Amino acid sequence: MISELSRSSLKEAIACALYQCRAKTLALFEGVDKTTLCHQAHPDFSPIGWHLGHIAFTESFWLLERCAGLQCLFPQYRQLFAADGLPKMERVKLPSLEEILYYLESVREKVLDYLEVADLEQQGRLWNFLLQHECQHNETISFVLALTRMEERDKRDKEDGGDKVVFLYQSAINKHTSPMTPVSISLSSEMLHVPAGEFEMGSDSIVALDNERTSHIVHLEDYWIDRYPVTCAQYRVFMEAKGYENPDWWSPAGWKWLQTAQVTQPLYWSCDPAWDNHPVCGVSWYEAEAYSRFVGKRLPTEAEWEKAASWDPKAHHRRTYPWDDVEPTFEYCNCDNVEGQTTPVNAYPTGQSAYGMYDALGNVWEWTASWFHAYPGFQSYPYIGYSRIYFDNQHRVLKGGSWATRPWALRSSFRNWYYPSVRQIFAGFRCAAN
Ligand code: AVJ
Ligand code: FE
Repeated sequence: MISELSRSSLKEAIACALYQCRAKTLALFEGVDKTTLCHQAHPDFSPIGWHLGHIAFTESFWLLERCAGLQCLFPQYRQLFAADGLPKMERVKLPSLEEILYYLESVREKVLDYLEVADLEQQGRLWNFLLQHECQHNETISFVLALTRMEERDKRDKEDGGDKVVFLYQSAINKHTSPMTPVSISLSSEMLHVPAGEFEMGSDSIVALDNERTSHIVHLEDYWIDRYPVTCAQYRVFMEAKGYENPDWWSPAGWKWLQTAQVTQPLYWSCDPAWDNHPVCGVSWYEAEAYSRFVGKRLPTEAEWEKAASWDPKAHHRRTYPWDDVEPTFEYCNCDNVEGQTTPVNAYPTGQSAYGMYDALGNVWEWTASWFHAYPGFQSYPYIGYSRIYFDNQHRVLKGGSWATRPWALRSSFRNWYYPSVRQIFAGFRCAAN
């Protein structure tokens, strides 16, 4: 990743990261037909073809127009691919995949020319932002594809007269064999004790996004947090106890949500017992909250999650990643679309935090109890629409990243946020207690 390298090797590192990031973005579109490209799988999310064009637009706007002072390369795409251009429903009439790829390629060529002369002392944060912007849209593409594949499966199931097929919601890119063979874990969930004390929250690193800054000291009383994310087997107990029918477990807002949503299981659910030790995936914040109450626990705050994931109490120091400062790869966690799906929650002992928390990064995003809010000293960057407009006490923070999260967007201080009703993202949770 990009950090304190000399200027020319820093430029090489940026070019290399841009290239590697792009390679997997493009791999997601292999074999994608026009219908899938333009398909709106859910009203809250744009078609995957739109996300692809928007990646090019954003790179072009910030680097070529704002920094290099060039004219807009493809003015005909401005309204279509700008975040504030068209309502999501109108993003289904798109250029062909070839045309969008040509757009990406043309912008990238000029961007690499500009990199040669760019002043990275001033723009380091912007280049890192753009890399992570592509990563985040890459993940959205992954779950929109997963939704589309589920629709197709459901259609097939109907036609086949309801014969249920074991469901894998995404085919892996560069599938390899997992380094660890998971052993069965006890279904009674194990908790870690985190003693009272201070830790460092957030980050001021050159890769930190505006909402991670500034790094600040937080004192927490002692608490307990689950060693693993909540598994499918654990969640099944809640389902079988008719948790979805019992208002006792739900907050008033959660119960209200459930009456409209009318769901009875997580969105990415499989009945296959082979998935017992996989984390629950595809739950809204309300479902996470209800399950936590059912087991007599609660959701961790963002601070509790981050301390358990990143604080090294012996060294009295904040780790960038739970395991240390070695960059995230498939040896430490399930990320970057390598597996193409979730893995058992105990599959990565190498990825443990100093406190012994497993699976903090990768596998599934984890809902926290916290609203998305500004840290002390927050300043919008590069625009108020990135974070500030979401500091509205309506978005809950998610931590940790999923199996589809690209490594540039994976670190303990990274903050994601969605409305509590959203269940299309690859999100699960773990519980905490006093
Ligand atoms: C932080 C993932 C919610 O995808 O809507 C992308 C990130 N912001 N382009 C999103 C984002 C602008 C954002 N999330
Ligand atoms: Fe965007």
